[in-house]
Amino acid sequence: MRILAIETSCDETAAAVVEDGVKVLSNVVASSAAMHEKYGGIVPEVAAREQLKCIIPVLTESLESGSQTPLASIDAVAVTVGPGLIGSLLVGVETAKSIAFVIGKPIIPVNHVIAHMYANFIESGSGLKIKKGQTPQFPAISLVVSGGHTELYLMKSIKDLQWLGGTLDDAAGEAFDKTARLLGFGNGGGVAIQEAAAIYSSSEEALRLDREGSRLRSNTIHLPRPMLDNKSLNFSFSGLKTAILREVNKLKTNQQFNNATIQQLAYEVQEAITDVLVAKTLKAAQMYKAKPILLSGGVAANLRLREKFLKAISYQLSAVSFFAPSKELCTDNAAYIAAYAYFRGHPIDWHKVTALPDLSVEEV
Ligand code: KG4
Ligand code: ZN
Repeated sequence: MRILAIETSCDETAAAVVEDGVKVLSNVVASSAAMHEKYGGIVPEVAAREQLKCIIPVLTESLESGSQTPLASIDAVAVTVGPGLIGSLLVGVETAKSIAFVIGKPIIPVNHVIAHMYANFIESGSGLKIKKGQTPQFPAISLVVSGGHTELYLMKSIKDLQWLGGTLDDAAGEAFDKTARLLGFGNGGGVAIQEAAAIYSSSEEALRLDREGSRLRSNTIHLPRPMLDNKSLNFSFSGLKTAILREVNKLKTNQQFNNATIQQLAYEVQEAITDVLVAKTLKAAQMYKAKPILLSGGVAANLRLREKFLKAISYQLSAVSFFAPSKELCTDNAAYIAAYAYFRGHPIDWHKVTALPDLSVEEV
């Protein structure tokens, strides 16, 4: 079954053609992120206008370039209906409806956040799988970490999901994005933090502190690990930006806010966020006797997070396997929208498909 999927929930315009939920024939993403740089965040109106301009070229490229997937070979159309920005969602939803109507094929509405986890079921040469060729077994614990969401799910089967917990305030990606701005990285977000943290990790000071014992490393700047010891499977990351702001102001007052201290702060932000994500997910895996842990969402591209998961699982839960999609399938794209549609979606009448900006991620 060949599905054409469209994703326009935030500032990306994406289209993909995927066969049987696993084989990506094309996957095209256009982003207007650079246009939002000067405003310090996404401007919904600007995003939607860009998406209107991009949607046809992106669809054309997805259907024609190299994938040999003309519209006539498409069996169904999948589209993100929410959650997301209303103007952006409307661009994708109305385009998908028109295509489905014209080619007379079913249309499958998709929840963007839940769809992220289906990136783990897509065949991908560079995806991270402990045992090559293995596909996830059930029950699985699935952590979705994106710019707007930090959600933990129990996957009893490929269709049967239960929401276990989520963030009480900022999402993990939001914490990366907000602290990146405080550290002077503009809209560089988690990628900028990861890069700066990597420079600190390989610095003379970090190596010295490593030699003296890893606990000492955090002596100079130590950020809280919010809700780490809390019994629930919820998260809270909003305190981190306040803590970073305090450190930045202190450093500025002492005229010590420079590349070296910025890199050290970036390192500590990344350590704090990833420590909490790994600990809570492992706790859920233990509680529900999960066979694998599945990671997904833009923050899943973070190398330190992937490294920590692998290490913690091998030390604490050696019977559990670990899956994370390739970097391109972690951040927003339409391939996993198609995968969700194939494995869990239900076609509905095209005239009933509507944009749902506040679509729940808990009632699944
Ligand atoms: O899933 P996604 O592409 O869009 C949403 O659905 O939100 O996630 C975007 C988020 C942003 O917060 C971005 O800073 C974060 O993913 N991100 C990263 C990395 N790459 C993207 N965070 C940490 N490390 C990365 N390498
Ligand atoms: Zn996303």
